[in-house]
Formats: sequence, structure tokens, C-alpha cells
Amino acid sequence: MTVVREALLKLSRSGAMKSTITRAPLTRDVVNRYVAGETTDDVLRITRTLADANLSITIDRLGEDTTKVEQAAETTRAYLELLRLLDDAGLADIAEVSIKLSAVGQFLGRDGERIATEHARSICEAAGAVGTTVTIDMEDHTTTDSTLSVVRALRADFPWLGTVLQAYLHRSEADCRDLAYQGSRIRLCKGAYAEPESVAYAEPAEIDKAYVRCLRILMAGDGYPMVATHDPRLVEIALTLADRQHRSKDSFELQMLYGIRPAEQARLAALGRRMRVYVPYGTDWYGYLVRRLAEKPANLRFFARSLVSR
Ligand code: FDA
Repeated sequence: MTVVREALLKLSRSGAMKSTITRAPLTRDVVNRYVAGETTDDVLRITRTLADANLSITIDRLGEDTTKVEQAAETTRAYLELLRLLDDAGLADIAEVSIKLSAVGQFLGRDGERIATEHARSICEAAGAVGTTVTIDMEDHTTTDSTLSVVRALRADFPWLGTVLQAYLHRSEADCRDLAYQGSRIRLCKGAYAEPESVAYAEPAEIDKAYVRCLRILMAGDGYPMVATHDPRLVEIALTLADRQHRSKDSFELQMLYGIRPAEQARLAALGRRMRVYVPYGTDWYGYLVRRLAEKPANLRFFARSLVSR
């Protein structure tokens, strides 16, 4: 990992930096590139536009690392309202939701996991009632066991519940093997957090190789792989592996983030590929934005300018 990227990822969790950057004048342009807006109206409008372009959607209400019980409850209520609005708008068949367990209570002390499970459960119930699905995001490696255990518990009642595995973690090949069973929806990404070398690959080439090993397992398994990457080489490899396993076009999907390679999203959808766009919205965009900046060195210039011009 480059020094700059590592420093940025550390900043993504700094409260002081959060308040500086959130108020910086040029930040808004960068935010708008990656975030669908601050309100549910904004995200519903973008969802409609993407659906009209033959893209599927997963919506993330931004927020993470919640340390207040009331905030976790408020995030849960916002998801319930969002699901109701998606249903009213006739979009629930094309748009699902993604949630971070740390946004719904995972870090609330000893009871955190139980609180997050109950909140995630009520979101799953609401999603099931309107005929859509939920995928649980994966955060830093200290949460992986807890997140997988919550997913395992909820899958007893919501077998369609998806989750994310991060190829950069040494453990992920084994997790892919455990989770490549019938009906299991696994979103495979490279991984976006600053992780120690004791648990994760740091070199891009090593991460890519690990991604391909995980892909092989998921594509050969009985589950439903969700290939979450903008890396053209990995997308090609995923399509080749799917062909080799005689997978039909509806037995896996490709996924990309809102604002990143939109022309490629449209191209793949036009070829009849299932392409789902991860669409974040809300006011708490700081951590998400800094992770996106860290992925693309060219973005750093905007970032630096927005700080200097304060
Ligand atoms: P890579 O970073 O190598 O990028 C490949 C190419 O894509 C770049 O060369 C560039 O062209 C373009 N690109 C990538 N990032 C860009 C950016 N920020 N701005 C502009 N262009 C960019 N991570 C995690 O830890 N937990 C999670 O739950 C999720 N969830 C998730 C869902 C979905 C649908 C996606 C697509 C990704 C995630 N991620 C994630 C993020 C993921 O781990 C990873 O950090 C990013 O996808 C970037 O990695 P790529 O695979 O795109 O490759």
C-alpha cells in the first residue's frame, strides 16, 4: 500500500479531519461524483434513472462507526422508510439495499452485535415484505467474524441475505469455500480499509491474484457470485470463469460503484450482463468519500486543493 493511500485511509476514521473536510469549499464537487445526494428524493431519482438504463441498484444510506444507540435506531428507521418508498415507486424489484452493521449498532459495546442483529433483522423483514433483498457490507478485519456470524444467524430466516468478502484478506479464500453454497449471495471486492500485513495482502498484484483465486471458488460453487470491481482485467476473468462453469447470465452479476466507470456499466448492461450499481446517499459521506479518494491517486489533487483553499 502506498504511504499516501495508507495515510488517507487512516484519515477516513479521524473525527477532526471529518469536520475540516466536510466544510471545505471544493469538497462538494468531489462528493457529487461519488454520492447520489443527501436525501431520499435524490437517491430515488438516481435509482429511477439507472433502472431506466437497464441497471440494477443497491442503495447504501451512508453512515458508519455509530457510537450512539439513537443514531443506530435512526439509521434503521431511514432504511425502513427507504424500502417503503422504493415499493411505492415500483422500484423494489430492481433495487435492493446494502447496510453496514457498524451503522446500525455493531460498535455499541458489549450489546453491539445483538443490537446490530436486531436492526438488520427488521431491515430484512421490510425488504422481504416488498420483495427485495439486503446485502451486508464488510468493514475492517476486526469486524469480519462478527459480521459473518450475524449474517449466518439472519440467513436462517432470510436465506437471500447477501454479504461481502474482501479478496485482500488472507482468510477470504477459506470464507469463499464456506459460503459458496446454494442460494448464497456473495459480493466479492478487493477491500477498501487500511489493514495490517499480518491479515491482508498489500501489493496490488497480490490482491489481484487473491481476487482471482476467490473468484474461481465462487464461480465453481453453487452460490450467486456478485463480482464487485471496476478492474477491467478482473471483469474479463470473471466472465471467462463463468463461461467455463457454464453459468447462465442470471446466475451471477457484476457490480460497480456509482460514479465510477459509468460508460463501462452501461456497455456491460447493453451486452445483456446483469450489472448492479452501488448507490450511496445521505449526509454522512466522509468515510466513504475518503476511501474512494484513496483508490484513485488522481483524485488527490482535488482533495489537497479543497483543503488548501479553506
Ligand atoms: P482498482 O482499485 O484496482 O480499480 C480499477 C480501476 O477502476 C481503476 O484503475 C480506475 O479506473 C477505476 N477506479 C477504481 N476506484 C476508483 C475511484 N475511487 N475513482 C475513480 N476511478 C476508480 N470494500 C470493502 O472493503 N467493503 C465493502 O463492503 C465494499 N463494498 C463494495 C461494493 C461494490 C459494489 C464495489 C464495486 C466495491 C465495494 N468495495 C467494498 C470497494 C472495493 O473493496 C474497492 O476498494 C474498490 O472497488 C476499488 O477496487 P477495484 O476492484 O475497482 O480495483
